[in-house]
Amino acid sequence: MKKFRRHLITSALPYANGPIHIGHLAGVYVPSDIYTRYLRLRGKEVIHVCGSDEHGVPITIKARQEGLTPRQVVDRYHELNKTSFEKFGISFDIYSRTSNATHYETASEIFKKLYDKGEFIEKTTPQYYDEEAQHFLADRYIQGTCPHCSNESAYGDQCEKCGTSLNATDLINPRSTISGSTPVMRDTRHWFLPLDKYAPFLKKWIEDKKKEWKANVYGQCKSWLDQGLQPRAVSRDLDWGVPVPLENATGKVLYVWFDAPIGYISATKELTPDWENYWKDPGTRMIHFIGKDNIVFHCIVFPSVLHAGGSYILPDNVPANEFMNLENNKISTSRNWAVWLHEYLEEFPGKQDVLRYVLCANAPETKDSDFTWKDFQTRNNNELVAIYGNFVNRAIVLTNNYFEGNVPERGEMNEYDLKVLEEMPKIRQNLENSLDQFRFRDALKEAMNLARLGNKYLADTEPWIIFKTDPNRVQTILNIALQICASLSVITEPFLPHSAGRLKQFLNISGIPWDRAGDRELIPPRHVIGKGELLFAKITDQEIDRQLNKLIAIRKMNEKVSAGLLPVKKNISYEDFSVLDIRIGTITKAEKVAKAKKLLKLTIDTGLDSRTVVSGIAEHFDPLTLAGRQVSVLVNLEPRKIRGIESQGMILMAEDAEGKLVFVSPGEKIANGSVVK
Ligand code: MF3
Ligand code: ZN
Repeated sequence: MKKFRRHLITSALPYANGPIHIGHLAGVYVPSDIYTRYLRLRGKEVIHVCGSDEHGVPITIKARQEGLTPRQVVDRYHELNKTSFEKFGISFDIYSRTSNATHYETASEIFKKLYDKGEFIEKTTPQYYDEEAQHFLADRYIQGTCPHCSNESAYGDQCEKCGTSLNATDLINPRSTISGSTPVMRDTRHWFLPLDKYAPFLKKWIEDKKKEWKANVYGQCKSWLDQGLQPRAVSRDLDWGVPVPLENATGKVLYVWFDAPIGYISATKELTPDWENYWKDPGTRMIHFIGKDNIVFHCIVFPSVLHAGGSYILPDNVPANEFMNLENNKISTSRNWAVWLHEYLEEFPGKQDVLRYVLCANAPETKDSDFTWKDFQTRNNNELVAIYGNFVNRAIVLTNNYFEGNVPERGEMNEYDLKVLEEMPKIRQNLENSLDQFRFRDALKEAMNLARLGNKYLADTEPWIIFKTDPNRVQTILNIALQICASLSVITEPFLPHSAGRLKQFLNISGIPWDRAGDRELIPPRHVIGKGELLFAKITDQEIDRQLNKLIAIRKMNEKVSAGLLPVKKNISYEDFSVLDIRIGTITKAEKVAKAKKLLKLTIDTGLDSRTVVSGIAEHFDPLTLAGRQVSVLVNLEPRKIRGIESQGMILMAEDAEGKLVFVSPGEKIANGSVVK
């Protein structure tokens, strides 16, 4: 391989409209972090950049749905995701965001440069327009009847019922989801990147890379190129994004897939004054870590922008991964079918490395893979606990018991000892070969082979049995075991940084460079090690059942939704919503209604008054437990008589797929009469 002076690692910028789940981690961030840590340990000059992708139509839709501004949405998820990454030890040198000033400048400059060079084609095309809202409509903002399956709420880009991808003009009876009105066609002007013009250059470049790139990545590029490339619009009519930096372009922003990859450049600029060397010196090796849905943007569109820009380097490799499923079903944010990092952190505190381990061992490297909780438990208990943890613990405890924590001298060695010592550098070699080819699963297997070697060595030599009769022999055995532990703490660092760090602490060592892993003399005799603790703990069946039950509840809920039992209601405007007067109140009294099995008569302090509400929750709650509870009350519901009692409002409840009811209560105490909005 060509020698490079420095490395620039990029990880796909996740959209800031939802939390991060295991699929993201397995496909992009665990591999990119392993790779970066590996390069750093080898003493390479390397930076790893990432950040939030904060533009695009889905973010504006989410904001509208929640009555928030796009800015409020991205602020929330930027912070959440940044924290999750940190806690999992994903060691970005910078986690930036595409809504900040440096990025606006950088993206505008690059657009302007291409514009001034005359690269873009300017075209006027008709597009749906909402006259009531005075807004051009992105395909996602239009709903109508699917021409294939007659689903009445198909979107302008896709029918979610039959899965067909659509053009907005395919929809029968299109309506704007902003105002509900029927959209009209109106001409609009946009700038197109002439991918067809760059095709010969792209072809040559990608054929050059064929040997080094993963087959799935090369295959996708080839098929795009074979189909023939078309000019692609790089602007949109939208009010959220980087404004098109031209006169007479009001209301137009850069297309999110134009600006987002430029976010890698902006992040580098923010990180270091040396950014130009990272982006323009051919001595830099750039690697994009992404998921398979991003391949075309990183191997065709962005390289075209860089090429047209004139002075930039291109990626040396794009080791894209396939997808990870969860318990045999596609991970889906909208169906809540995922393991979310922020939830995992709460439910398995301190076990970040376990998830990193399982996601890497089962990474979707060459085909989609499947995450199951059973496999998670098995790998933890049978591999991390029973092999890695057990070995390290034995070596440390025995050294403390027999030699007061002093690393013993090695005496004469037998054939087995020598074989073990010879094995160590080979394992590191194999591991390096795998990592150099982005084969993370194999690399992790090699790292575990070192733990396996050590574990077997102690099991075979049984120092705890021979100590009484042959303490000298035990000195040799434990010396060798501790050398293995020390190497293990180095070569597992990229995969299991938290545990490797603790292991180094137990061994009282630091600063061992990567290349010395596998050495026979990593820890010298008489070096004093610490007492150590357990590195990994068993995960119980109960913990796994809890996770499985959570998924079963979600599945039931989804089944009800798709059976139409919990129909997603049609969009309403904020004005429609705001006619509801919902207040926080406190239940002051609760009693059964005579001869009515289901009804409770509640007295509620609504902050406005004290009123009576009759509620059908008697089968779910003991009235004696209710006084003092804060609830949400719809106070402007027309009063009506129920069993002779006038009910003046309604209590809001949440019901799950099994019919379980809970109160919709404020997360913390707040004054009665507070408005829910
Ligand atoms: N936000 C995109 C996604 O989640 C990835 C953007 S990668 C970048 O699919 F290169 F554009 F930043
Ligand atoms: Zn359809």
